[in-house]
Amino acid sequence: MKTYSPVKSGKVREIYEVEDGLIMVATDRVSAFDHILKNKITKKGAVLTQMSKFWFDLTKDIVPNHMLTVDNSEMPAFFQQEEFRGKSMKCKKLTMIPMECIVRGYITGSGWESYQKDGTVCGIKLPAGLKESEKLPEPIFTPSTKAEIGDHDENVSLEEGAKVLEKTFPGHGLEYAKKVGELTLAIYKKCADYALKRGIIIADTKFEFGLDEAGNIVLADEVLTPDSSRFWPLKGYEAGKGQPSYDKQFVRDWLKANPNSDYNLPQEVIDKTIAKYIEAYEKLTGEKFSF
Ligand SMILES: Nc1ncnc2c1ncn2[C@@H]1O[C@H](COP(=O)(O)OP(=O)(O)O)[C@@H](O)[C@H]1O
Ligand SMILES: [Mg+2]
Repeated sequence: MKTYSPVKSGKVREIYEVEDGLIMVATDRVSAFDHILKNKITKKGAVLTQMSKFWFDLTKDIVPNHMLTVDNSEMPAFFQQEEFRGKSMKCKKLTMIPMECIVRGYITGSGWESYQKDGTVCGIKLPAGLKESEKLPEPIFTPSTKAEIGDHDENVSLEEGAKVLEKTFPGHGLEYAKKVGELTLAIYKKCADYALKRGIIIADTKFEFGLDEAGNIVLADEVLTPDSSRFWPLKGYEAGKGQPSYDKQFVRDWLKANPNSDYNLPQEVIDKTIAKYIEAYEKLTGEKFSF
């Protein structure tokens, strides 16, 4: 059997190059407070990969995407080993557009901090009197540019982002920046409305796009997973305070209460956490999770 090693190994995901594309593998690793926990959250990777698949299918009428298959039997034998089952997505390799396409539907996190200082989020003026976690009148597109490893990403205006894109795609910077902004808002609106009806608030999220060989803009990376988004339970939601995270609340609460744990969690916390991931998947898709 031909073996493969990842061309890239991130905090949570691993990327392999195969003959006719890329295979993105979501591992069972979990990070909290910018640390990777010692424990594996068994099945988390499969939940996230299947969730991305679900959203790619739901949004393909808005924009084409990079997904080729999540069926391991359509991948090289190496990826048919048990450890890759359900966690792998074979994708078209694209020329990535170097912009993190962030969209916010609710005010929280760094956006809330900035709003309290000067009434803006990433340079966008918002109405006065918003409360923490409140729904925005309209979702806003707040792109950032990818920093080199270790640095934090930098928020940019659409025009600044366009200048960065211009370096990779001469003559197309502004065109692509506008286009991915429109797509980002359209995808977010459709999916956030959909999720809300199923009891999950998608407060904000991040998309990445690339270009295929014909020059079409294609949705890439992972989409609308709890790792790339803030998911909140609708039940108990109330503006005016911070919201619990749908998936990581048990982990965060436990870590805060046990500061000397060295990121080693008891099994009970792991079990509760995986149950939340599966619950989110089943609520959103209406299907039983079966990996
Ligand atoms: N279809 C694709 N073709 C090429 N690169 C892709 C594709 N989809 C996602 N990527 C890239 O794969 C990488 C995923 O790495 P990730 O583990 O998220 O780490 P990071 O975001 O810190 O670079 C990102 O650089 C992303 O832009
Ligand atoms: Mg990434």
